[in-house]
Amino acid sequence: MTTAFIGQPVSRVDGRQKVTGAATYAAEFNVPGQAHGAIVRSTVANGRIASIDSVAAEQASGVIAVLTHDNAPRLAYRAHKGAVDPGIGERLHVLQDDRVSHQGQPIALVIADNLEQAIHAAMLVRVTYVSEPGTTDISLVEPVLPTQEKTDQGEGPPPETRRGDPDGALAAAEMSIDQNYVIARENHNPLEMHATIAAWDGDRLTLWDKTQWVNNVADEIAAVFGIPAENIRVVSPFVGGAFGSGLRTWPHVTLAALGARVAGRPVKLMLSRREMYYSVGYRPHTVQRVALGASRDGRLAAIMHEGYQETSTYEEFSEALLNASRFLHSCPNVYTRHRIAPMNVHTPTYMRAPGEASGVFALESAMDELAVALNIDPVELRLRNEPEQDEFKKLPFSSRSTRECYRAAAERFGWSRRTPEPGSMRDGRWLIGWGMASATYPMNYAPASATARLLPDGTAEVMSAASDMGPGTWTSMTQVAAETLGLPIERVKFILGDTRLPRAPVHGGSMTMASVGSAVQAACRRAREEALARSGVNELGEAMRRFGQPIEASADVKPGDEAQRFSMHAFGAVFVEVAVDRDLGETRVRRIVGAYGAGRIVNPKMTRSQCIGGMIGGIGMALMEHSVVDARSGRVPNANLAEYAVPVHADAPPVMDVIFVEEHDPHVNPLGVKGVGEIAMVGVAPAIANAVFHATGKRIRELPVTPDKLL
Ligand code: MOS
Repeated sequence: MTTAFIGQPVSRVDGRQKVTGAATYAAEFNVPGQAHGAIVRSTVANGRIASIDSVAAEQASGVIAVLTHDNAPRLAYRAHKGAVDPGIGERLHVLQDDRVSHQGQPIALVIADNLEQAIHAAMLVRVTYVSEPGTTDISLVEPVLPTQEKTDQGEGPPPETRRGDPDGALAAAEMSIDQNYVIARENHNPLEMHATIAAWDGDRLTLWDKTQWVNNVADEIAAVFGIPAENIRVVSPFVGGAFGSGLRTWPHVTLAALGARVAGRPVKLMLSRREMYYSVGYRPHTVQRVALGASRDGRLAAIMHEGYQETSTYEEFSEALLNASRFLHSCPNVYTRHRIAPMNVHTPTYMRAPGEASGVFALESAMDELAVALNIDPVELRLRNEPEQDEFKKLPFSSRSTRECYRAAAERFGWSRRTPEPGSMRDGRWLIGWGMASATYPMNYAPASATARLLPDGTAEVMSAASDMGPGTWTSMTQVAAETLGLPIERVKFILGDTRLPRAPVHGGSMTMASVGSAVQAACRRAREEALARSGVNELGEAMRRFGQPIEASADVKPGDEAQRFSMHAFGAVFVEVAVDRDLGETRVRRIVGAYGAGRIVNPKMTRSQCIGGMIGGIGMALMEHSVVDARSGRVPNANLAEYAVPVHADAPPVMDVIFVEEHDPHVNPLGVKGVGEIAMVGVAPAIANAVFHATGKRIRELPVTPDKLL
């Protein structure tokens, strides 16, 4: 019997539930007596509500209540700390006044006996506006410095940083490039739409919600309603994808709770896919400038990286857009400046590899342009600028396997057979392009708690309020628990997704394995030691039976001072082959090879799957995804999966190779993992754009690279 499970390709313990429909997602719960809600949304981008006529809606069949700013209870909207929402500024206050700040803002809520009645009545609500000129076109906004840089990775450096003399070094450089890069807005499109069921029992509230952080939903709704978080239970066992849209607690959660309170019945509120384009965030439209100066032999002398992004008028959203430019490549003179463009839009949010996916697109596109200008191989250019330490933080890297990633991925890809001249590689009428880019994402490790309960029947329950939006938390935690306890894996059950369980950090920023995994390990160690000590035998199964009653142990883990001593990041390299149709401008990705140094890999099967997901997401970012915003109204005309293109199976290349280079990092966290969820998305889009240049000689600096841009 083996109990070495960490590092094994264990299949998903929840796989059967998911494929047989036994897994229950938020909207699939049914609470006795539940009513249904439908949201009425603004049809202007900016202005005031002049009147709301809800008489017809109120009289419609099955309608229980119509809530508007005229009759909705006033909410406390207290501040609360330590959460992702709000960042800086204020979150949207729903149904509190007549102000409209963006298209699709919730302005009324209809509660009815069933869903059809609620939707029908919502259509009967008549609204007039005093419309004001709005700003929904980023090119018309003067970007401003944020008050303070705060991202999903905590408080960041100031919005403007400088080391050395970047202007002087750029002016004096033997070779320089200076370009602008634009990334269109991209929307979250998880398979499972956002949904909440709210049920009050006196002053206690239960929420079934699609979320990446049950604890934060409780904290946020407690702050909004001015009640103790202990009064709120949040249940979220399954999450049908999210990768950012579920990090925050969006206004529909407040509306469900508000509706349930007014109706005196539980309320179920589901968002349609169209509604999600106006209410659960998106990767913001980004405009960046990168200027690089270098010597003829390819040593970087200057990096200037500036960028700004759309945000709402009521909140400052910011992400780690310029992070990588400060340490990924060695350079003595570096300037970064991050600004925001407040607009009549709803607040953007984090979307897979927030900051890095966008910032590294600009940086790694520029590096490719520099390589071309210098006539140096792009891999060689990066090798010549490998830093010895993090030159921004002036700290050693806890581990950094970039050289090994370049070598392993280039070899697997066959990079040495590349002919550098654009358009020089062909396959019939297809122009073949080979491109590459570097990737990095911070190692995030946050305080987490877990409990292990050993039962007399020889099984164990291990629990934490974590989430599993797809990476495989259920499975990987079961592996860590079984190995630590020394029990067969089928005798260990992991439980997550409930605020009644020990507190977990946000299921984002690639930190779940590091944080919850370390807590699970610590709790299981403690439980095992206790069981063995109390029973006086040295075999756990025997100890559990002999003791005759449950043995429970909990553990909290948190980072020490390692962040003061080390710069901790995962690194990677992505190599891509594209084929571009000479006549039609269509780009097909044929192969992707990614190599990652990400510390310990707990489950290579799921981690590979995670990386493939990131590669496919990168194809979407590079070639397809674009939330079109009608500048006249702030409307998103392609707010649906028919017109908002995402990669389907036919777009996924037959070859997606994932290499994990061996890395033992004792500094990052007790488990030695760095996380891969986010880094899997970094570097893919620039590698594709660089490959498109190699195929066609056309440098596309505005994503997505659609056929029209190549003709
Ligand atoms: Mo990730 S964008 O923090 O879900």
